[in-house]
Amino acid sequence: MKNHVKQRILVTGGAGFLGSHLCERLLNDGHEVLCVDNFFTGSKHNVVHLLGNPYFELLRHDITFPLYVEVDAIYNLACPASPIHYQFDPVQTTKTSVHGAINMLGLAKRLQAKIFQASTSEVYGDPQVHPQPESYWGHVNPTGLRSCYDEGKRCAETLFFDYHRQHRLPIKVARIFNTYGPRMHPHDGRVVSNFIIQALKGEPITIYGDGSQTRSFCYVDDLIEGFIRLMDSYPEFTGPVNLGNPGEFTIRQLAETIIEMTGSAAELVFQPLPPDDPRQRQPDIRLAREALGWEPKVRLEEGLIHTIAYFDDLLRRAA
Ligand SMILES: NC(=O)c1ccc[n+]([C@@H]2O[C@H](COP(=O)([O-])OP(=O)(O)OC[C@H]3O[C@@H](n4cnc5c(N)ncnc54)[C@H](O)[C@@H]3O)[C@@H](O)[C@H]2O)c1
Repeated sequence: MKNHVKQRILVTGGAGFLGSHLCERLLNDGHEVLCVDNFFTGSKHNVVHLLGNPYFELLRHDITFPLYVEVDAIYNLACPASPIHYQFDPVQTTKTSVHGAINMLGLAKRLQAKIFQASTSEVYGDPQVHPQPESYWGHVNPTGLRSCYDEGKRCAETLFFDYHRQHRLPIKVARIFNTYGPRMHPHDGRVVSNFIIQALKGEPITIYGDGSQTRSFCYVDDLIEGFIRLMDSYPEFTGPVNLGNPGEFTIRQLAETIIEMTGSAAELVFQPLPPDDPRQRQPDIRLAREALGWEPKVRLEEGLIHTIAYFDDLLRRAA
């Protein structure tokens, strides 16, 4: 147990990928956790190992409706995070970001509780600046297919800052970049999970373009450490702060590493690059380094070991 005073902490979206790791970490740090989720993309399976813990409580609830509970702090993570899922019901996605933020901020205001928002690098849209510092206002299409997510998250940030200015509410806003690890949704179309599943099944690995475009991947444990440090940061520090791993890998390097690590016979298959595919995505984490003393520690190969083991187990159980 760390130096924290024991708190009752609400985690919305707690049965999702990041939320389940956060619940686990908070319990390990000695807190009580109330996990709230509507199980749209999350599942009980992600938190089943926590159900026996008397300090863990799971509540099925949709945050677009008000919630009346008594807690000391709130982490607001509820929102589908991958294009396949957030475009499935775009109106509900915007409602989750906007009405969800209003409901959680209202709860925080009544309780005078500190509240964390899981924002995203997508608030920068299709950026014209690389890498993106927090001061960059973004380049976002307000009417496109991705807007329900990007603009929903931008509006949630606005609400957080207005509650802070208008009601003196203590807020912490993290802009999360691409994160991977065990309990990622197997069918959300993300490159790390796609490649691992294709490699484990011995299916061809699809690369768009020549694979020389780069991406950065943060391992989930590093990200959760960033969440905790942000929540514990000095009171005036609100963010927004970028959290992600600035280490860049080409998509081809990622595919080859996964093939090697899984011992797969999968071949690489090349397909045309989609028109809006960015050449590069990389966080600028200077602010996180300065204000939180945080930077990612887990090397890609190390994180992949745990992630491959997770998907290997998942596929075996499904077989
Ligand atoms: N994983 C990443 O790389 C990444 C990057 C940027 C931002 N984020 C943000 O982090 C948060 C968590 O992402 P994740 O990767 O764990 O995704 P996830 O889909 O695994 O988790 C989201 C959780 O929210 C729940 N949920 C969705 N709508 C809800 C609603 N209306 N009421 C209650 N619960 C609801 C889902 O069932 C799920 O359990 C999201 O807000 C996402 O936008 C994640």
